[in-house]
Amino acid sequence: MRFYASLIPFLTLVTSFTAVGQSTQKTWWKESVFYEIYMPSYADSNGDGYGDFKGMEAKLDHLQKLGVKGIWLTPFLLSPKVDNGYDVASYYDIDPVYGNTDDFKNYVAEAHKRGIKVIMDMVLNHTSTESKWFKEASKGKDNPYRDYYIWRDKPNNWESFFGGPAWQKDPLSGQYYYHKFDVKMADLNWSNPQVVKEVQEALRYWLNLGVDGFRLDVINFLTTESILTDNPVKEGKQEHQYDIDQAGVKDAIQKIRAVVDEYKDRFIVGEIGSDKIDILKQYQSPGLLDVVFNFNFGSIPSFSTKRIYDELQSMENNMPGYPTLFFGSHDMPRIMDRLAGNDPEKALALAALMLTAKGIPFIYYGEEIGMRNTIAKTPEEMRDIQGKTFYKLAIDAGKNPAAALVEGNDHNRDKSRSPMQWDSSPFAGFSTRQSWIPVNSDFDSVNVERLQQAPYSILNGYKQLIALRNSEKALQYGRYKNLQLSNDLLSFERIYKKEKITVVINFGKGMRKIQPGKKLRILYGTDVLVENGVAIYK
Ligand code: BGC
Repeated sequence: MRFYASLIPFLTLVTSFTAVGQSTQKTWWKESVFYEIYMPSYADSNGDGYGDFKGMEAKLDHLQKLGVKGIWLTPFLLSPKVDNGYDVASYYDIDPVYGNTDDFKNYVAEAHKRGIKVIMDMVLNHTSTESKWFKEASKGKDNPYRDYYIWRDKPNNWESFFGGPAWQKDPLSGQYYYHKFDVKMADLNWSNPQVVKEVQEALRYWLNLGVDGFRLDVINFLTTESILTDNPVKEGKQEHQYDIDQAGVKDAIQKIRAVVDEYKDRFIVGEIGSDKIDILKQYQSPGLLDVVFNFNFGSIPSFSTKRIYDELQSMENNMPGYPTLFFGSHDMPRIMDRLAGNDPEKALALAALMLTAKGIPFIYYGEEIGMRNTIAKTPEEMRDIQGKTFYKLAIDAGKNPAAALVEGNDHNRDKSRSPMQWDSSPFAGFSTRQSWIPVNSDFDSVNVERLQQAPYSILNGYKQLIALRNSEKALQYGRYKNLQLSNDLLSFERIYKKEKITVVINFGKGMRKIQPGKKLRILYGTDVLVENGVAIYK
């Protein structure tokens, strides 16, 4: 899905103050910096060109040194990988490309030894059409699995989030099944109690294996009570009004929460596909989700200090408890190109903000070394189903191949999915052979090995900033004071009990001298700030 630009357009600011439940109750996840690993692209141990658990295990020391305390693994369950694992074929089996159950258990145990928790991505809105459930369901109307999915004699006008209609005709029965995403990703019927039971069992299975929580994929899409109502269409574009945020979604989430709460200290972050902060915050409450992915920073299309400041204000004024803080993910273009203009200092200044602001930071793999976008030069180079679908739709609509490529690339999420750059050896130390998606050409200079040797590198900056966040309760739990923007100088204080930390970031041009007051000592940076300079005082 193209959350970055299409599903979640750029958030409009809501200025009313609704600080609900500003709880400072301590939990591990409020103290953690998270790190998202896109499974196929992180580290390949067996030379098949795909990342795997053993490869990732060998890289846990990197994450420990970086200081992260939580890892979010994108889907690793059995899948034909039409959408790289977001099309799950079995909720119990690990895809052999990534290893087996023992590899998974070892990985979690090794992460735990290093004080790092592991949460897994759970895709509960849909399954692959290759799943046993769907294959059975397709056998006929009387099959016991038929009602696991959503079938209609006549489709409504709902469109897929990947483009094109959201209904596919089944040749055998003549009925249509519903798919919010690709035609090979069929939506589960959450009004069937049997589906709920099956999902709850699967969640218990993974909790028993030791996962510390879940990232729930498109979780506000689960139910479809309004299926009889067409979505409105304005200026030729469909508005997703009736196909998301339906009446039963919260009830469904409660059933997931209840299972997670059978276990101690587990965490749920939900991906809510919505641009409306009023909707987002409804799901972040006791009995539902601990936090949601609010796309405040993630939706910023290009750099603007004012915009960043407004989004900070919006999070503070509108998100109950803790917002999530992230600039990138596997669905968005990389920060380095989108916001930092390929300037590692600017990328680090943005990281400083993410790691000192109030909320739960999520770093996307490769951000710590300043990895860049990868752009498909031909349609054949596109791996992402969304990019490919938009390319095809453009061709079908009569666009010429060059224009269709632009359209495809605009929606192509491969941009941020190229292999992690570990060192200067062939294939960047990611694999011993050509990977499923090409390695970025700058890997000789932009890689972990090289950057850790350079004292002032972006990587070492990330380490220092994360170490600071890990050691300072004020950065984990502090409230804001004096959040302000003045001539591109963004500053705020974080106050916790008797501690105060002051953060000043110069996003403007030219040198700025700051006078933080006599009693404060500098924790990071200097009091003369050049462009993109950061100073943190205690
Ligand atoms: C994931 C996407 C995926 C979609 C469908 C999104 O939220 O982040 O990568 O394509 O859900 O599962």
